[in-house]
Amino acid sequence: MGLERTLIIVKPDAVQRGLIGEVLARLERRGLKLVALKMMWMSESLAEAHYAEHREKAFFRDLVRFITSGPVVVGVVEGPNAIEVTRTMMGETNPATSPPGSIRGDLALTISQNVIHGSSSPEAAQREVALFFRPEEILSYERAIDRWVAG
Ligand code: RTP
Ligand code: MG
Repeated sequence: MGLERTLIIVKPDAVQRGLIGEVLARLERRGLKLVALKMMWMSESLAEAHYAEHREKAFFRDLVRFITSGPVVVGVVEGPNAIEVTRTMMGETNPATSPPGSIRGDLALTISQNVIHGSSSPEAAQREVALFFRPEEILSYERAIDRWVAG
């Protein structure tokens, strides 16, 4: 059981729809620990860097336009297998094939507006966390419940 950190983004559609609390609450209820959190409006250059792996894809410009279309909430969540756990909670990239119970399966309908981002691998998580947060913005702290969720 490896303790991991992963980057999450509550995307502009979710902020506009009043779903910030819903999305963060699901992650918290699972037992994951928020160790960094901020609201921001991503610049085009930050969006392009974040989604650099998709630079050659046909949907890249639309993706950058969407993620910069309004404020987002960016956070780092920590926990045992946090990367895989978060991805599983998110569901599939396309909400249409995401099962009920997943964030996208419960809260989204289309691939272009799918509520949440989560890092897809340990390498991606490390790169993305560093892109959005300085080391001193990521907090190490104990919660009384930690031994009950990660014992
Ligand atoms: P994310 O990076 O946002 O967490 O999503 P993901 O890993 O599930 O999906 P990824 O393949 O990384 O794609 C990033 C975002 O691009 C949009 N997309 N559109 N039109 C299309 O075929 C298409 N494919 C991907 C989605 O909004 C996806 O979240
Ligand atoms: Mg991705």
